[in-house]
Amino acid sequence: MAIWRPFTQEKTASPSVKISRGSGAHLFAEDGRQYIDMISSWWVNILGHANKEIADAIYKQACILEHVIFAGFSHAPAEELCDKLAGFLPKQLRRFFFSDDGSTAVEVALKMAYQYFKNQGISGRNIYINLEGAYHGDTIGAMSAAGNDSQYHSTFSEFFFKTFTVSFPNTIEEEEASLEKLKCFLDARAEHVCALIVEPLVQGAAGMKMYRAEFLEKIVDEVRKYGILVIFDEVMTGFFRTGTMFAMDQTGVIPDLICLSKGITGGFLPLALTIATDSVYEAFYSDDWKKAFIHGHSYTANPIACAAAIKSLEILHRAETQSQILNIAKTHRDCLAEGLPNVTSKRTLGTIAAFEFESSQQANDVSAHMFRNGVIVRPLQNTMYFIPPYCISVDDLQYAYSLILRDE
Ligand SMILES: Cc1ncc(COP(=O)(O)O)c(C=O)c1O
Repeated sequence: MAIWRPFTQEKTASPSVKISRGSGAHLFAEDGRQYIDMISSWWVNILGHANKEIADAIYKQACILEHVIFAGFSHAPAEELCDKLAGFLPKQLRRFFFSDDGSTAVEVALKMAYQYFKNQGISGRNIYINLEGAYHGDTIGAMSAAGNDSQYHSTFSEFFFKTFTVSFPNTIEEEEASLEKLKCFLDARAEHVCALIVEPLVQGAAGMKMYRAEFLEKIVDEVRKYGILVIFDEVMTGFFRTGTMFAMDQTGVIPDLICLSKGITGGFLPLALTIATDSVYEAFYSDDWKKAFIHGHSYTANPIACAAAIKSLEILHRAETQSQILNIAKTHRDCLAEGLPNVTSKRTLGTIAAFEFESSQQANDVSAHMFRNGVIVRPLQNTMYFIPPYCISVDDLQYAYSLILRDE
């Protein structure tokens, strides 16, 4: 077998499960087994698998225009998608830059933030502030932005640019100390910082770690005193994952840049957007070519991906999808409240639920048990989380919870 798999130690990992078909929240393997996809296939399939309406939209677009260079040319699907998204964003955020995945959406934001200052003749702003435990993707810039302590990327730390890490507050009491350290750092170094980057309200890969909007608002207030830009990485949290269209909507913050990807096409095709405020955009708007944002990808704004995203947005905002989202949130709350005696740190936000076992081994054992019983999960160390497609039935979700209560 020639395939080298992502996030996999090939020597010790089991062979891949060969999936032949998907339908709604379910995946069907070649050996005839059936699984509930409790992690929306790395958090992208927000509307479930093989959604017929999105498939039809893709087919229709592929017959009209499959791709065109996006420098010097445009097309209706890209323009329509941006218009539609603008309707769900604060009016300040209306400059849409396309790329291909979450990592590139973050790279774009990081580069824009840095160049924003350079274009205004301000040099030396080359430090980024992050939040302890952050994950922003696997390209060099995205890895750097997560900082040297990143559990995934320390191998490459000698390549990383400079960051300051805000301590993650595990309790409300810890918020003050974390904020004080940030203030001290800013007193000394603020004029060297270009941006704060955070996953708002929930840090995904860190283990669905949740923190208060009030804390986020406070760190944003502090950095903004020094003109530092604010980047919200909503690659995981976007498109109702946290119960609202964006996690941003549950905070009093309008960031300068927001990164979107994952759920944007309903999980059908890779696509990403970095959306900037007018004020960021204006720093690039010039007669000087060097002040342009010289960045682009071959598949920028692929029309088929844009068509999938337009259809996905339409389905997302239907009353039935919205009530499904509420049902998932309620089922999470009810099931977490009802017990799960063998877990701790139970938490939920919108369609995300997470809880912890004593050890990674225990979480892996439970995950194996769930897999044998037809549920796909993927613990992050000792954290188990459920982040299902919005079309999942309450029965399927309750079934997954029932497997946690096993006595094996
Ligand atoms: C918050 C966040 N940002 C960025 C990324 C990177 O996205 P991608 O894997 O599409 O490059 C991820 C991926 O999990 C993520 O969770």
